[in-house]
Amino acid sequence: MSSRVLYLFGCAAPPVLDLPSAVDLALSDGWTVCVGLTPTAADWLGPGTLAALEARTGRPVRSAPRRPYEEWPWPDADATLIAPATLNSVNTFALGLTPHFVAAYVAEGIGKRWPMLMMPCVNAAYATHPQFGHSVSVLRDAGVRMLYGEGGFVPRPPGESDRGDYPWGLALSAARDAVRDGGTSTSPRAE
Ligand SMILES: Cc1cc2nc3c(=O)[nH]c(=O)nc-3n(C[C@H](O)[C@H](O)[C@H](O)COP(=O)(O)O)c2cc1C
Repeated sequence: MSSRVLYLFGCAAPPVLDLPSAVDLALSDGWTVCVGLTPTAADWLGPGTLAALEARTGRPVRSAPRRPYEEWPWPDADATLIAPATLNSVNTFALGLTPHFVAAYVAEGIGKRWPMLMMPCVNAAYATHPQFGHSVSVLRDAGVRMLYGEGGFVPRPPGESDRGDYPWGLALSAARDAVRDGGTSTSPRAE
């Protein structure tokens, strides 16, 4: 695959701690990778890991909104993968709220029909919250490819770790499939 651009955005669920390995997987698959994080996810990873991610991808890691006078620092995306996506963030995205950079990007991307995929990470208790299923449906109907349920992330009972088994390979392969027939520009943008 020629160098397609993947925006990889992580939220604060345990698999985000393995985001550096997912980035390596994507880089070895030929992607140019740009990393975005919710503020809590950025806090979990910590400054050392963020610096290592910037060195590895050659691009700034973003978790703060762009200031009006700042240029967009990344090449345009061919696909955006939001993984892991927490209960909090899935609901935030579905409601169209924009408390941080990742949410603002998703809100704009839905409006502009940018190619976006999302793989939640929720335990079975979170998954039964009535808002969660509704949010998944809202996002699906809005054109986001939700990698959830059969063929995607399947919730486990609370207390069972999702970190080791989180299906990063499946998520990246779905992103690859999503751009197989050509990329889509993500400009212009506001967030
Ligand atoms: C150890 C730990 C594990 C967590 N695991 C999950 C999880 O798997 N899924 C989830 O939705 N929230 C999980 N949470 C809660 C989120 O981190 C929390 O809701 C956070 O506010 C999400 O922020 P974000 O959506 O902005 O990234 C976990 C929290 C902790 C401390």
